[in-house]
Amino acid sequence: MIKQYIESNQQRFLDELFELLRIPSVSADSRLKGDVRKAAEFLVNKFKEAGVDTVELCETKGHPIVFAEKIVNPSLPTVLVYGHYDVQPPDPLDLWHSPPFEPVIKDGKIYARGSCDDKGQVYMHVKAFEAMMKLKTLPCNVKFMVEGEEEVGSDNLGTFVRENKARLKADIILVSDTAIISLDHPSITAGLRGLSYMEVEVTGPNRDLHSGVYGGAVANPVNVLSKMIASLHDENGRVTIPGFYDKVVELSAADREAINKAPFSLDNYKKELGIDDIQGEKGYTTLERTGIRPTLDVNGIWGGYTGEGAKTVLPSKAFAKISMRLVPNQSNEEITELFTKHFNAIAPKSVKVKVTALHGGQPAVTPTDSAAFKAASAAFQEVWGKKPIPTRDGGSIPIVALFKDELGLDTVLMGFGLDSDAIHSPNEHYGVKNFLLGIETIVAFYNHYSKSN
Ligand code: BES
Ligand code: MN
Ligand code: MN
Repeated sequence: MIKQYIESNQQRFLDELFELLRIPSVSADSRLKGDVRKAAEFLVNKFKEAGVDTVELCETKGHPIVFAEKIVNPSLPTVLVYGHYDVQPPDPLDLWHSPPFEPVIKDGKIYARGSCDDKGQVYMHVKAFEAMMKLKTLPCNVKFMVEGEEEVGSDNLGTFVRENKARLKADIILVSDTAIISLDHPSITAGLRGLSYMEVEVTGPNRDLHSGVYGGAVANPVNVLSKMIASLHDENGRVTIPGFYDKVVELSAADREAINKAPFSLDNYKKELGIDDIQGEKGYTTLERTGIRPTLDVNGIWGGYTGEGAKTVLPSKAFAKISMRLVPNQSNEEITELFTKHFNAIAPKSVKVKVTALHGGQPAVTPTDSAAFKAASAAFQEVWGKKPIPTRDGGSIPIVALFKDELGLDTVLMGFGLDSDAIHSPNEHYGVKNFLLGIETIVAFYNHYSKSN
């Protein structure tokens, strides 16, 4: 029944998703505030049409949160669906093969910013709900909370959650904002990394200087910053910040073996990324390096002259944005503090440094023995004909840890993207098949979860 509903409505589902994808809801770009709001309003209307009892556009200090609910019967379990309608900035624009906010389907994939992260995945939930309403098969209560600030740190969602605990009362949180291994190997994410995101500023002389007149005698902040950054890893690829690994949970041999059982081809990995070799922390596999190990990366670095041609200058300042991915039981506050202390400690006297924390979030692991995880597993088994593999994803959804702390709720991370979908990159895409199978799997989740409660 559900299969048929999806099939006969798939063109409309895609048309509607395209409409949402055309709205440039880039949360980081203050010039697009109105468009971010438009995306929220679009969802409000679609929730209404799909048959919710109530839907509200909740104002925050930043972008609004869309909250909707359908209470079938208060004695039935309640699923709280979370997702985000904001997207990352689309640049560099010239690397897109088609404009980021003009969605097109090519080779069975929807190309647009947000197609996978996370508009496409949020929209599967709207359409799964619509289908269950139309077919009169919604087996439990459902609440939706879709925010517009995930890509900028979810600051106002934290406040919303703390202030609306009664309204958010539920039994489980369901999120589709992660990836499966491949269409042949469905998987369910059982852990996400946390994040500490820092910006550093290194100041040398009080103005840009002639690099011939002063070069060699005055510290060059770009040279100094490069050296400081280089010193943050040792020859084994380990982060050198004192105490960085102190709280890291080392997994048992059995747990590591389970992680490495997931299908993975290093050759394809390298080929897909156009690299001849990989690198990382010694003693760990690629899947471990991205799943269960903490890391440090420079996201951007600038300073001095970067315009056309050459300008001989010894710059006054250098900057970098540096992020660290965290794993259990590292805490983002603690790591932020350790980083700040260390970065100040390794700065030579010839420069001044300023370290600012931009945002962060705690790592999260979700139970794999809960009724909800088993229901998700059964849903994949039913729709994909294969038992999904539990995986640890390297990305972060900081709000998942907060849901546990503030609401006492576990999350099921039932995402349908692929690592190769180029989220946050040019030419982001999402498989039409992933979208349609996702809708079916979500419906199957509701059925299995309701049966087990
Ligand atoms: N959906 C991603 C997180 C993700 C991607 C999890 C792939 C698992 C697999 C999310 O939208 C995201 O990009 N999060 C940010 C963190 C946020 C605080 C900006 C991230 O991971 O960089
Ligand atoms: Mn996302
Ligand atoms: Mn994202």
